[in-house]
Amino acid sequence: MEIVIAPSILAADLLHLGDQLRAAEEGGADWIHIDVMDGHFVPNISFGVPVVQAVRSGTKLPLDVHLMISNPEQYISKFREVGADIITIHQEATPHLHRLLSLIKELGALAGVSLNPSTPVQTLTEVIDIVDLILIMTVNPGWGGQRFIEPSIRKIEQCRRLVNEVGRNIYIEVDGGIDNTTAARVLAAGANVLVAGTSVFGSKDVKQAIQKLRDVQK
Ligand code: DX5
Ligand code: ZN
Repeated sequence: MEIVIAPSILAADLLHLGDQLRAAEEGGADWIHIDVMDGHFVPNISFGVPVVQAVRSGTKLPLDVHLMISNPEQYISKFREVGADIITIHQEATPHLHRLLSLIKELGALAGVSLNPSTPVQTLTEVIDIVDLILIMTVNPGWGGQRFIEPSIRKIEQCRRLVNEVGRNIYIEVDGGIDNTTAARVLAAGANVLVAGTSVFGSKDVKQAIQKLRDVQK
């Protein structure tokens, strides 16, 4: 199975973001993961539209934008305009999931939906025909560097079963506490996109860290 590695710039050296993006690209990263936090949906604040725009000018890789924000309907078009290729909203952040996923697709991006650790996979059965990516949070969203939540493994397996049942090509992405050890386990459970912040940008050698993550599959 082809795996996608998406380093999260939340853990990057922001003063040297251009260099960090280049290192990720040279190390073989597939996507760049950008965590947008609003201090409302999650208790932390991180990046907004201008940062996504800056990253767009610093890499050719697809931008995987993870919106941990309330009222995502107000911002989806703006993030698309500045170059987001994949836009993921949280299931818990909107009562109009179907409409917003459809909007993301109409704007020409891949439409992702993310689940907090306490939100069951079954909440996605009614959007499974339109969603392009399911992001299973393997920590509670808000910060990098947290410990992987164990029952996530069972949840990834459930998600893989659901995706295989519908027979569509849907990415299963995991985010939070992904390192060489947990990566092997989430891949075995059925994930195929690894988001990694601390284990990539927290490492002395970003290129090597990405290569090692890819090698866990072998
Ligand atoms: C957490 C973010 C993650 C974060 C992961 O709310 O969604 O993308 O960057 O960080 P690590 O890999 O350090 O757990
Ligand atoms: Zn994220």
